[in-house]
Amino acid sequence: MRIRSVWEILAWLTATIMVLKCCSASRPVVTCSGIVPMVNRNDKISITDFGGVGDGRTMNTKAFNEAIYRIKHLRRRGGTLLYIPPGVYLTESFNLTSRMTLYLAKGATIKATQNTANWPLIAPLPSYGRGRERPGGRYISFIHGEGLHDVIITGENGTIDGQGGIWWNMWRQRTLQFTRPNLIEFKDSRSIIISNVIFKNSPFWNIHPVYCSNVVIHHVTILAPPNSPNTDGIDPDSSSHVCIEDSYISTGDDLVAIKSGWDEYGIAYGRPSNDITVRRLTGSSPFAGIAVGSETSGGVYNVLAEHIRLRNMGVGIHLKTNIGRGGVIRNITVSDVYMVNVRKGIKISADVGDHPDTNYNPNALPVVKHVRINNVRGKKVQQAGLIHGLKNSPFTDIWLSNINLHGPIRPRYVPWTCSHVTGGAIRVNPSPCLELIQRTRTRTGVCSIHA
Ligand SMILES: *[C@@H]1O[C@H](CO)[C@@H](O)[C@H](O)[C@H]1NC(C)=O
Ligand SMILES: *[C@@H]1O[C@H](CO)[C@@H](O)[C@H](O)[C@H]1NC(C)=O
Ligand SMILES: *[C@@H]1O[C@H](CO)[C@@H](O)[C@H](O)[C@H]1NC(C)=O
Repeated sequence: MRIRSVWEILAWLTATIMVLKCCSASRPVVTCSGIVPMVNRNDKISITDFGGVGDGRTMNTKAFNEAIYRIKHLRRRGGTLLYIPPGVYLTESFNLTSRMTLYLAKGATIKATQNTANWPLIAPLPSYGRGRERPGGRYISFIHGEGLHDVIITGENGTIDGQGGIWWNMWRQRTLQFTRPNLIEFKDSRSIIISNVIFKNSPFWNIHPVYCSNVVIHHVTILAPPNSPNTDGIDPDSSSHVCIEDSYISTGDDLVAIKSGWDEYGIAYGRPSNDITVRRLTGSSPFAGIAVGSETSGGVYNVLAEHIRLRNMGVGIHLKTNIGRGGVIRNITVSDVYMVNVRKGIKISADVGDHPDTNYNPNALPVVKHVRINNVRGKKVQQAGLIHGLKNSPFTDIWLSNINLHGPIRPRYVPWTCSHVTGGAIRVNPSPCLELIQRTRTRTGVCSIHA
């Protein structure tokens, strides 16, 4: 009897393991990365064919420019792959071209020069009207793409190193003349893939797709120290159909921040960010994990962020905008988030960020509506949430469900605070603010979306 039951247990265990194996193996992984198909390019060149030297000292600007010139003008069928072998390739900023793959081998590093004196300037973005941190033009991104299509940056987890320290110090010492360079910017481009690359020490934002569509970013690692200023991970800006998946980001500012232009310039340009997915992202930062804003003047809609794991964060989920921004933020869904050691779990507010100049319109009030935040768990969260709409533009249809954000015993837990918000809350612990609970009682408790 006893032995038989042991065998029965073993048989049951084996069966269970087989079922688990079968079903976890056969369950398709949900992904949006198919919006830009991966292409293998048969025409391959190496940076060393153009005189590239990976000794960490030789300047390779000429090699990069010549290699990319060759890709641009020979226009090989199916495009060309530019191979970066192991080694450290120091270079000034350079421009990519269409139908190319920048392939970094294992052990390959493309490193930005620390000589910032000759760094080229480009015009400000029309939706910002000026550089984001200094008036006038802005330094071109280290790796830049403008008006391109079908570009892939990939490889075997080689590194793109911005050597940002020198720029962070200029910011700290207030000696910056113009806005710092992004590590990578694609402007007016489409069909872009960035995968299996490590991004390190960006001078400013790391990956900035602006006025782009169909952008896939997956299996990337983005690293910068927690005290490095404005080193946002990925900032989709006035861009649509952006898919960010399976990545690790640990920086000094927001991990992902979805933007769409700044105050009167962003309103005039009128280009939203929409249809953005962020999935299976892990990271930490003193600022936000998943952010919308604060520059949202062209509007942000249809955002899905799910399966997010955050540790040592300022704010877990942050929708932020400001008076003067205008713009509509709507249909934002964030679900399945786990966070630990966080100052604020969820924050939705309209008093964040500065203005480009004094010409912003104080009557251009932002609109925030149709927001769903579901299945959020957290430990060591100092304040679970705060939601502060504007008196003359309350946030509407804001729904929270299945939220458990637990604080430290000490210092004392700070309760939810809200104002000018309507919507509802179901199974939210600790109990959210009255504005959301009272609304829930008057409704059926069904959390449906009317966008
Ligand atoms: C790189 O692209 C920018 C923006 O299109 C342009 O202003 C600049 O001249 C280009 N640089 C080179 C070296 O081609
Ligand atoms: C690169 O790093 C990512 C993220 O850590 C990992 O998932 C992937 O397997 C690595 N790829 C290669 C080719 O080593
Ligand atoms: C809301 O956004 C999601 C993507 O996150 C999209 O699938 C859905 O169709 C949108 N709903 C409406 C009503 O636009």
